[in-house]
Amino acid sequence: MFKFKNEKRELKRIIEAILLVAYEPVKTVAIKKVLNKSSDTIEKIIKELQEEYRKEDRGFQLKKVSGGYRFYTHHDCRDYIEKFFTSTIRGYFSQAALEVLAIIVYNQPVSRITINEIRGVRSESVISTLLSKRLIEKASKGFGPGHPILYKTTPLFLESFGLNSLKDLPPIEKFSEDIKNETHSKEENRYLNIINTKDGNRYLNVIAIDGPAGSGKSTISKELSRKLKFFYLYTGAMYRTLAYLALKREVNLYDEKALTDLTIDSPIEIENDAEHNSIIKIDGEDVTNKIFTNEVSDASSKIAIYKGIRKVLSEKQREICEKGKIVVEGRDATTVVCPDAIVKIFLYATPEERAKRRVKQLIEMGQEPPKFNELLKQIKERDERDKNREIAPLIKTEDSIYIDSTNLTVSQVVEKIINIYRKKTYVI
Ligand code: DC
Repeated sequence: MFKFKNEKRELKRIIEAILLVAYEPVKTVAIKKVLNKSSDTIEKIIKELQEEYRKEDRGFQLKKVSGGYRFYTHHDCRDYIEKFFTSTIRGYFSQAALEVLAIIVYNQPVSRITINEIRGVRSESVISTLLSKRLIEKASKGFGPGHPILYKTTPLFLESFGLNSLKDLPPIEKFSEDIKNETHSKEENRYLNIINTKDGNRYLNVIAIDGPAGSGKSTISKELSRKLKFFYLYTGAMYRTLAYLALKREVNLYDEKALTDLTIDSPIEIENDAEHNSIIKIDGEDVTNKIFTNEVSDASSKIAIYKGIRKVLSEKQREICEKGKIVVEGRDATTVVCPDAIVKIFLYATPEERAKRRVKQLIEMGQEPPKFNELLKQIKERDERDKNREIAPLIKTEDSIYIDSTNLTVSQVVEKIINIYRKKTYVI
């Protein structure tokens, strides 16, 4: 495994250094890219590091979270760490404080009402905290009804963030292409990636839709994403693309290791066109039209059972969800990919209704539908298989909202979900 005596020690030091500087949990694949060592070797070294820290009873530990590794301070040091942060000027900034600060920085002088509008939640207490920390101050009174107080940043803000002047800040377009290109209304723009709710919980600004095959997940998700101007993430397309690649490169569909390696090495890109249809690219080549053949459908359901593949694809999907403003759809969207979505839906339709919809769809596509009873039998059998399968089984999580779409139109279902979303995010 190791070429020379000190190689392991050297690798250990490098991995330790990477983990130390990373902002987010570091996945084994990321280290693999740097070190050119197998995942097994890297995992083994990380395990050893964990064990060393544990044995030495250090003030921190190395934990596995969100599929990666990250240093955490030991819980018995918590009080001191909190004290340390609150006693320094930059202190501990909550997500809310950073949001308000960013809004003021880029819009100053700005009123409380505008800040509330941009964030979509009341920000009075955060503004008071920032005032008390002397990071912002009252600028002047604005125009308009009541002459609202306007806020701006202070010289202490510049000092605390290591800036000479506000000109040192990057132009907002530089790190927010999205905002530059937004044509949405103000209300739609309120939501970025994280939503803090009244109960103090934090959710991703994501609508996750799960449910049995043929329940209308794709149709509903696409329409919903169009209406909300969200990104439509069709997870099934990724399984399909991988299956297409496996067939093209003649990878054995039963060789889990080879398929997992293919998943790791394949840069699958998923985009939306203007109509929010999914566009799939591999190495820049558009393969969207190639992934819906019967052969690919069949292969995708075969490869979707492998843990390794699911892990890599779910991680990619999760990364996309973390950007917020996403409608994610697929078997495991609510359970694995985005359990902290602000809205989780379990979309159902009776097997009879799903069989009817499938017949209609095949006729529209100019294909000969199978006998109705045969189709119904297949659907019921597939439901049973899906419910009982070991990996990513079809289940409704406790906090998912059940929608039976059997007697509803597409727009009725979409409206229902939008209402749920608005209620949850306190927008009327
Ligand atoms: O939704 P679809 O039929 O296009 O999905 C293609 C295949 O991938 C299907 O067999 C189900 C599987 N799949 C999965 O296992 N998990 C997902 N999140 C999405 C799809």
